Formats: sequence, C-alpha cells, structure tokens
Amino acid sequence: MQSQSREKNDPQELNNPIPYSISALILGLTLWAVSYIFWTSHTVEETNEIKQYAQTSNQAAVKSTASVEPIAKSLASPVAKKSVIKIDGKAIYSEKCSACHQSTGKGLPSVFPPLDASKWVTTINYELPVQIIAKGLMGKITVAGTDYNGVMPAFGQSLSNAELAALVTYIRGAWSNKSTEVSAEDVATSLVKHSEQLSSWTNEVQLVELVGAPK
Ligand code: HEC
Repeated sequence: MQSQSREKNDPQELNNPIPYSISALILGLTLWAVSYIFWTSHTVEETNEIKQYAQTSNQAAVKSTASVEPIAKSLASPVAKKSVIKIDGKAIYSEKCSACHQSTGKGLPSVFPPLDASKWVTTINYELPVQIIAKGLMGKITVAGTDYNGVMPAFGQSLSNAELAALVTYIRGAWSNKSTEVSAEDVATSLVKHSEQLSSWTNEVQLVELVGAPK
C-alpha cells in the first residue's frame, strides 16, 4: 500500500496535449511560410517579365534611334547641339554685364543705360542687341527717353556664338522683358552679315543705318 502511494500516477493523455496558443502560432507560421513562398516566386516571375520587357523595349529603342539618326544628321546639326549644350545666359550676364547694367537690368541713371524695358534689347530686330554686344557701342544713344554718351565694350572676342545667343536670349526674357529667343545660328547669320564692321559701332545713327531701327 505504501509503495503504491509513493508511485506517481500513470501519465494520462490530455484531451488537448498542445496548448491552443502554440497550435495557433504553428498555424500562423505555416500560413506565413506558404504565402511567403508564393509571394517570392510571383516576384521572381514578375522580375523576369520586367527584364524581358526591358530587353525588347531596348531593342526597339535601338532600332528607332538607328532610323532617326540619319534624319537627325541630315538636319542641321545645331538642332541636336541646342538640346545637348545648355549655356546659362544669366551666369554670363552676372559675370560680364551686371557691373554696369546692374543685376536688376536698370543700369545707373545717366551713366549706364537700362536693359530692362529697352527697345534696343526687346526689338524683333534681334540683330541690334547681338551687334551692340559683339562689337560695342559709343556715341549718343537714346534709351527709354534718356540720352547716353558712354562707351560700351565689345564682347564678340570673348563669347562664342552660342554664349552670345544664350546671353541675348536671357536679357530679352529677364525682368519685365518678354521677347523672343535668339539662337546661335541667328547670331552667326548677323555676324557674317556685318563682318565688315570690325570696330565698335560709332553711334546710334550709324547702328540704325546699317543694322536697322528697333521695331
Ligand atoms: C563697362 C560698362 C559696361 C559693361 C560691362 C557692359 N555695358 Fe552695355 N552699355 C554700356 C554703356 C555705357 C552703354 C551705352 C553706350 C553709348 O552711350 O553709346 C551700353 C549699352 C548697351 C546696350 C544698348 C542700350 C540699352 O541700354 O539697351 C545694350 C543692349 C547693352 N549695353 C548690353 C550689354 C550686355 C549684354 C553686356 C554684357 C555682355 C554689357 N552691355 C556690358 C556699358 C557697359
């Protein structure tokens, strides 16, 4: 009897040997694992699809460039250059012009004429600003009702046609100015047309006679 009481009870199988919380966790993990496998294989498929698509569209792009290239070449190459080289006209202005004409474009009263709202700048006869900047100007010039009689230095030697174009385009669109762009080809055309004029324009009258009036 005594020995029997010292013995432990025979183990009894419980109704639910694994606690609910554990089985829920296992179920959760299994679901996660399955869905993870499913999800990654799906992604791999997608990646492959993207790769394939990229390859085909790349080929298409190569093909289309090949067919466009001869056309682009046959067109005046400046078209391509224009979009590739972006020159900052504002930076050129700050460096070379703002000391006299000021960053506001308003100049200095009676000394340096304004470029803001100046018909010499905004005129559809874009050759005027191109020629003044390229060769310089002295003698009398009337700007916005005020007469000036100073000396404007020449910049044709220190600026390329493309830089001149960017600069002229900038001053024609800066401040209150809202005039048209000028391209490097426009600059080249004007410089060739007036190549006989090597030194500075001597005054407003000579400038208007040869280059035309500001319209
Ligand atoms: C050293 C001072 C000085 C610098 C630098 C200078 N200019 Fe001028 N600019 C003048 C003067 C002075 C006149 C008027 C000339 C005259 O009286 O004949 C003038 C006239 C002009 C005119 C025609 C008149 C007007 O006001 O519209 C334009 C356009 C012009 N300059 C643009 C420029 C640009 C762009 C630059 C920079 C590349 C520049 N200038 C740099 C002094 C300068």
